[in-house]
Amino acid sequence: MSTDARLVVISNRVAVPKARGAAGAQGGLAGALHSALKSRKGLWFGWSGEESGTGRTGNIATQTNDGVTTATIDLSQSDIEEYYNGYANSTLWPLFHYRLDLAKYERETGKGYERVNERFAELVTPLLEDDDVVWVHDYHLIPLGERLKSRGCKNRIGFFLHIPWPATRLFVSLPYHERLVRTMLHYDLVGFQTQEWLDSFLHYCRTELGADVDEGTGEVTLDGRTTIARAYPIGIDWDHFSSLGQSKEAWQAEQRLNDSTRGRTAMIGVDRLDYSKGLPERLDGISRFFDQHPERTRDLVFVQIAPPSREDVDSYQQIRATLEQKAGQINGARSEVDLVPVRYVNRGYTHSELFGFFRASKIGLVTPLRDGMNLVAKEYIAAQDPEDPGVLILSRFAGAAGQMQDALLVNPHSPDDLAHAIRIALDMPLEERKERYNSLIGTVQDDNVQVWTRNFLADLDSSRD
Ligand code: G6P
Repeated sequence: MSTDARLVVISNRVAVPKARGAAGAQGGLAGALHSALKSRKGLWFGWSGEESGTGRTGNIATQTNDGVTTATIDLSQSDIEEYYNGYANSTLWPLFHYRLDLAKYERETGKGYERVNERFAELVTPLLEDDDVVWVHDYHLIPLGERLKSRGCKNRIGFFLHIPWPATRLFVSLPYHERLVRTMLHYDLVGFQTQEWLDSFLHYCRTELGADVDEGTGEVTLDGRTTIARAYPIGIDWDHFSSLGQSKEAWQAEQRLNDSTRGRTAMIGVDRLDYSKGLPERLDGISRFFDQHPERTRDLVFVQIAPPSREDVDSYQQIRATLEQKAGQINGARSEVDLVPVRYVNRGYTHSELFGFFRASKIGLVTPLRDGMNLVAKEYIAAQDPEDPGVLILSRFAGAAGQMQDALLVNPHSPDDLAHAIRIALDMPLEERKERYNSLIGTVQDDNVQVWTRNFLADLDSSRD
């Protein structure tokens, strides 16, 4: 692969960050990929997010935007129901986030998943050129590499999983789990966010498939074919994100939050409305803090930005209802005529606005129950004023915790632990805040998305040597 070989990214969602609302709603993947593609003659193939009319879909819409060519297809209603709402988001997503209780196993959705992966392979194959480097992303498209190769594709193909890989004991509850992982071993390179997820994957390959696993090199050999599996922690686009601090939009957002909190400490959370993000547990922790320190109700305002996500999936409707109820309960019990302790906002904001909100917030709460990495933790740190930085409270179960040990690490399941961390953060002296910030900003700046892309693609390049 020459360094200027074209990069072809294939993911379920294709979203070039653009207008208001995009940032908060899109999750980490879209922003990271856009950064990876924009400096190259990149092609990004995936679902448009739209539903086609009835019947088989085959029209590819192409568009070039900000240096990136996107090629998108619509999916039929049954494809969306079975592949996206079904197998990807009602089976794999909960299972991979350790929520066996929410995982549904239905034969029809599994078939829809395979059908859409086959459709992706069929439609993208004619777009591929000999030298292209193909990079497939996330749990929606695990079998795609195998499908492409069965159509004669000779390109190097890498796969990156943006979410956790579950422990073997959980993963084996998935019907046909072997079939799914065997397809993964057709990629030349498979990447995970952290060593923990990588170790779980290697453990599965060794114990369940009987593969030959070399922990040192990450080589997994099965049926005479070798795949390399390694960890590549994703980062933010530091240059872009940090430059947003100069924008008028960021400054106005910071002023807006400052003006409205009138001297109280703002504490912020920004998450897609997803049960993996630990939002009800977070509100329980805040409620516990107010119970333990009623005299401090006037010191703190909690702002939770939570754009709705995957609204056609039952478990997402339930989490939304739960949160409305919990936020309502806290506010009902603690509000005064001039004070509402929890501001719960169901919409997205641009990255510039989020930058401003993060900077105005002296505490950032990132407390998922399980998360592949979590880029909000990194963005929160990137937006802080080095002379007066805020404190990041971070779940030990976020992939980011491995790199961000100087955050206040918490167990998000424990309201006491959360309440304690909030008190420590509120009272933390400037000197300690600076020390923690200085240590955290290094990894945010250095382990950025460009480094992530470079490392992954360099390994993909040498994967067949
Ligand atoms: C996570 C996933 C991504 C996904 C994003 C938003 O970050 O890893 O693959 O795109 O959530 O979810 P959505 O279902 O709206 O694409």
